Amino acid sequence: EMKPLSPLKKVHQDACEFFHQVLLTSKAGERALNYAKERELSEDLLEHFQIGYAPNSDHLLLTFLRGKGYDDTVLAKSGLFSQNENGQLFDRFRDRLMFPLADEVGYIVGFSGRRISNNKELAKYLNSPETEIFNKSKVLFHLKEAKKAARTEKHLVLYEGYMDVIAAYKAGIKTGIASMGTSLTDDQVYLLKRISRNIIINYDGDEPGQHAIERASHMFETIGGFQVGVVSLPEGLDPDEYVKKYGPERYQDEVKGAITPTDFFLKRLELKYNFSNDREKLAYLDEAVKLIAPLNNPVERDLYVTKLAKKVGVSEDSLKVSLLREGRKLRVAERRKKQYDFEPEEQSKTQ
Ligand code: UTP
Ligand code: MN
Ligand code: MN
Ligand code: MN
Ligand code: MN
Repeated sequence: EMKPLSPLKKVHQDACEFFHQVLLTSKAGERALNYAKERELSEDLLEHFQIGYAPNSDHLLLTFLRGKGYDDTVLAKSGLFSQNENGQLFDRFRDRLMFPLADEVGYIVGFSGRRISNNKELAKYLNSPETEIFNKSKVLFHLKEAKKAARTEKHLVLYEGYMDVIAAYKAGIKTGIASMGTSLTDDQVYLLKRISRNIIINYDGDEPGQHAIERASHMFETIGGFQVGVVSLPEGLDPDEYVKKYGPERYQDEVKGAITPTDFFLKRLELKYNFSNDREKLAYLDEAVKLIAPLNNPVERDLYVTKLAKKVGVSEDSLKVSLLREGRKLRVAERRKKQYDFEPEEQSKTQ
């Protein structure tokens, strides 16, 4: 027996169809459709991602949904409307290209609307507020479709933004999902863990994106059980800009060339030091050894030792000595930490 769709989910489905029709078939949607074309969103993509347009009006969605029989208590809880000082509802999303956000099963639970005007005073993306069915930190854009594709592809590719997932899709990578910004959450990582243990991170090539790769890698490492690859795009480009500039084949090659998080960390580290200065070289090695020492797999550690020795021009043997020393320090620190965790209980016994 099918459970009937909850009113909040149903109203999102109806709103989605409304936005989608306004974009594709109305006069009011023409500007937005032009914007979509400029961003190389073909009709197929508009369909697959169910993209729409919220017209520049404070009541068209409200009127449409009331006409469908929804009462104001449901509409007020939906997050699709704001309320003025008299408690009257008005459309929250106005003059925005609308991206529906769905849960893992595919039910739409919220929206994100992109500004299409060049009024920089407006937020670039406006999201649904938290509601009974929408919590931004528990949703991943395009998850249901990516999950299907991951059954054959055996991996997921993690992006920052909607347009990146869409550009990847256009380039033949159908396993893209987005954390909707750079602040990936534990909930999202656990959600991913049930779907694929093989994650490729492809955040934006700018500094915030690169920094966020570090943060995300650490999260996957801490929660554990993942195999992580990192794609770091050049020139500060995001995946959407990269596909536009270099085309789908080169983008696919970038994804195929994903490197390990350790390789990524080492590359980032390298940028901070001037290798023609011995003092800086040594400081670099010091930091690099700290990155490698915690790795559990000895073969992996060996791999990086070889690379590092070649890069800096020192012997592998001396690096291995440093590595052993660092490893010993780590184990001592670990033991201390365990002792410390144990102490309060010990003390309470003697009191
Ligand atoms: P970006 O600033 O990288 O935007 O933010 P973008 O995805 O490249 O978007 P375009 O190409 O300019 O249209 C990455 C993601 O962060 C979230 C969105 O999910 C966005 O896709 N974001 C960004 C917001 O939620 N609000 C904002 O104001 C900006
Ligand atoms: Mn359609
Ligand atoms: Mn970004
Ligand atoms: Mn971006
Ligand atoms: Mn972009």
